[in-house]
Amino acid sequence: MKYVLVTGASGDIGEACVKQLAKKGYSVYCHYFRNEQKMKSLLSDLILQYPKQDFFALQADLSSPNSVEELIQNMFQLHAIVFAHGDTVYKLLSDTTPDEMTYLWLTHVYNPIRLCQLCQPKLTQHSHSQIVFISSVYGLIGSSMEVMYSTVKGAQIAFVKSYAKEVASMNLTVNAVAPGAVDTHMNALWSKEEKETLRSDIPLNRLAHPKEVASLVSYLLSSDASYMTGTTIPLTGGWSI
Ligand SMILES: NC(=O)c1ccc[n+]([C@@H]2O[C@H](COP(=O)([O-])OP(=O)(O)OC[C@H]3O[C@@H](n4cnc5c(N)ncnc54)[C@H](OP(=O)(O)O)[C@@H]3O)[C@@H](O)[C@H]2O)c1
Repeated sequence: MKYVLVTGASGDIGEACVKQLAKKGYSVYCHYFRNEQKMKSLLSDLILQYPKQDFFALQADLSSPNSVEELIQNMFQLHAIVFAHGDTVYKLLSDTTPDEMTYLWLTHVYNPIRLCQLCQPKLTQHSHSQIVFISSVYGLIGSSMEVMYSTVKGAQIAFVKSYAKEVASMNLTVNAVAPGAVDTHMNALWSKEEKETLRSDIPLNRLAHPKEVASLVSYLLSSDASYMTGTTIPLTGGWSI
């Protein structure tokens, strides 16, 4: 049986990834930060639906410097990691505080990289293993009002390219998915008008569904993608690329 860690499993993209991977037979370490209620309900559904697989809930604030060391103590076997947690700060760079910059850096870059570092011995025990980051199209093209967010998403992409080269000989593949706009809780603060304007800018004329991101993640974890490493795949409905 294969074990995958999904960070942000309590979020919309994370939950969709967990559901698709569980359906494919994975046992899942489901990470969450604040949403314990949603995690409890997701876990009880999974246990009922897939009684022969294991499902664990792991809590951690990934903006805190020492959170990763604790997280790894609760994992045993590990074949793959999907980084699907995250947050943004929506304001001009000139209004962004040093604490907000540190928050985004720790959440999106430092802690995920530290986790890869600590999990490498577990991952490389297997003949094939995978890491997938949910980055963002903003990491490729940049965005005003989310300069620091775009920067850390770009850093994830740079990490994927570099680390993929370092661990390729151990058959550990490292890739990223770069979604455009996905219909999730992260965009819940947008007004109806803002969503409408955004939708009309997207050639496919709609936001992505979390399931569509999960399908790409599921492919990147499959043996069909065994030759793919160091890549970032945009998933934008034709928007901004
Ligand atoms: N939605 C989009 O349009 C879009 C586009 C491109 C990329 N992305 C990326 O996709 C990923 C998932 O986002 P989403 O759209 O699924 O958003 P979401 O539904 O709001 O989920 C966010 C997830 O991140 C977790 N999280 C937030 N702050 C955290 C922290 N400090 N430490 C640990 N976990 C934390 C949340 O945990 P709790 O709920 O348990 O607190 C939740 O599981 C993010 O990396 C985001 O940048 C999203």
